[in-house]
Amino acid sequence: ALALASGLPLSSFAQKKIVLGFSQIGAESEWRTANTESIKQAAKDAGIDLKFSDAQQKQENQIKAIRSFIAQKVDVIGFSPVVESGWETVLREAKAAKIPVILTDRTVDVKDDTLWVTFMGSDFLEEGRKAGRWLTENVKGSDVKIVELQGTVGSGPAIDRKKGFEEIIKGKPQYKIVRSQTGDFTRAKGKEVMQAFLKADPKVNVLYAHNDDMAIGAIQAIEEAGLKPGKDITIISVDGVKGAFEAMMAGKLNVTVECSPLLGPQLMATVKDVVAGKPVPKRIVTQEGIFPMDTAAKEFPNRKY
Ligand code: AHR
Repeated sequence: ALALASGLPLSSFAQKKIVLGFSQIGAESEWRTANTESIKQAAKDAGIDLKFSDAQQKQENQIKAIRSFIAQKVDVIGFSPVVESGWETVLREAKAAKIPVILTDRTVDVKDDTLWVTFMGSDFLEEGRKAGRWLTENVKGSDVKIVELQGTVGSGPAIDRKKGFEEIIKGKPQYKIVRSQTGDFTRAKGKEVMQAFLKADPKVNVLYAHNDDMAIGAIQAIEEAGLKPGKDITIISVDGVKGAFEAMMAGKLNVTVECSPLLGPQLMATVKDVVAGKPVPKRIVTQEGIFPMDTAAKEFPNRKY
C-alpha cells in the first residue's frame, strides 16, 4: 500500500466525506419535487454523503427520521419542517448529540433558537403581500369576492401567505375573502375544494391559491363547472413552477408569485461551513420575483423548475 514519508498510509489523509441527514416533507407539489432534485444533485456535486428521507407529509415521520439520523451520528441534519410547532423535544435530542441542524424552506416555532443553526428559504409573508398587491392593483370593483385555497394547516407558508395577503386587503372593504379552506398544497385537493367552493356559490371573482399545484387543480374544477379560469375567475398563486407558466400561456392563470425551490447548492455550501466551524447567518433569504400572465411566454424558456 502507498505510504507517506511519515509512514502513515495515504488513505488516512483522504478527507472523510461529510454525512448529511435530510428529512424532506414529501412529494406533494411540483415545487417539492424540484426541491428534492436540487438537494440530491447539489449533494452529489459537493461530494457530500446524503441520507435522504421522505416523510410523506407527516410530522411523526420527520421526527422518526431525525432520531434515526442522530442514532447514525450524521455530521449535520437538514430538514424542511412540515408544520411549525412540535419540534422542541427532537431538536433538543439533536443538540444533546452535538449535531447541528439546518432548516431549509420552512422554519420551526421553538422558544430556544439555539436548537438550530440557520434557516434558509423564502419570505412567505412577503409572498402573500406580493399576491395581495397584485390583486389590489389589477382587480378593481366595488365587491370583489375572493376564495382562498390554503396550504397545509399549521405550515409556515400557509400561515404567512394568508397573513401577508390579508395585511394588504385590510382596510379595503371591496376585497372580501368569502371562503377559505386548506387544499394541502396538492392538485387533487385543490380541485376537490374548488369544486365545493363553486357548488356553494359560483359567483366568485378571484381565487388566491397558496401554491401553483392547488391553482392547477382548481383550474380543472372551474372548467368542469363551465367557467373560464383566468377570465371569469382571476387566479393568483405562488411558486412559479413550469406548470404555472404553461397555464399562464394558455390564458388560465393570471399571475404567480415566485418561490424558489432551488436551495440545494446553498444548503451544501452551508453544511460545509458549519462542519468547518465557520459562522453562518441565522437567516438566509431567497430572492424572488413575480410573474404576471403577459410575461409568461418570454420567461418560460428561462425557468429551471
Ligand atoms: O414550503 C414551500 C411550499 O411547499 C411550496 O409553495 C409548495 O408548493 C410546497 O409544497
